[in-house]
Amino acid sequence: MALFSNKSRPAQVDFDHLPRHVAIIMDGNGRWARKRGLPRTAGHGVGAETFRTIATYAKEIGLEYLSVYAFSTENWKRSQDEVQAIMGLLKKYLLEAIGQMERDRVKMEFFGDLSRLSPELQELCQRTREISKRYEGCQVNICLNYGGRDEILRAARAWQEDCAAGRARPEDLDESVFSGYLFSKSVPDPDLIIRPSGEVRTSNFLLWQSAYSEYYFTDVLWPDFSKNDLLEAIAVYQKRSRRFGGV
Ligand code: FPP
Repeated sequence: MALFSNKSRPAQVDFDHLPRHVAIIMDGNGRWARKRGLPRTAGHGVGAETFRTIATYAKEIGLEYLSVYAFSTENWKRSQDEVQAIMGLLKKYLLEAIGQMERDRVKMEFFGDLSRLSPELQELCQRTREISKRYEGCQVNICLNYGGRDEILRAARAWQEDCAAGRARPEDLDESVFSGYLFSKSVPDPDLIIRPSGEVRTSNFLLWQSAYSEYYFTDVLWPDFSKNDLLEAIAVYQKRSRRFGGV
């Protein structure tokens, strides 16, 4: 099975058997900008537009869950200007999303430690989550100050605290119990994880949840990622044989 996409064939998607949960590492914004002699922040701006387009399209075609990696626990190492620019784009997006929620009816969740974000951004995340929680159909999970290892450590600590307080028992711990301590607690594991930009690694994204996910890599940079690229990824996914460790 090809690891990378084969763009010579048109995407043939079976819309009756879509993956329930698609997750995307939105990578390549910086390189997209550099190729055009623009600052990296310009790439993030276009990347945010791409996210809007893909999230709207995900709902249109009937995906149940879309998770995107917007800011990792490691991304704080970037320049202050770049971090500020990404936070500004998130604020702009959340304000617009709140304004259009009744029209879009997309449920929004956030995975990650939001406490390191500005109080304003934390409040916007909370408001978005609250307003949209009654919507059904498509849930978008924005991973913000998210790291897979950090998520697992937090879950372990929370479980240990519950054990110490008598709310949980060590002998009851299994995968399902542990999953309930993760940011993704009520969300099924991703069926398909897409990484654009030619990089072939997981970068601390949904480490626990990706145990049996199918990966799809493409050289397309995130700002150029189109609805057709999403369909292509789904078409490749649909040709894979998922055995979950069986035969
Ligand atoms: C990775 O590309 C991208 C990021 C770290 C930021 C992603 C943020 C957005 C798309 C904008 C805000 C998001 C929302 C949900 C509105 P990179 O900078 O590492 O690219 P490079 O590898 O080419 O340098």
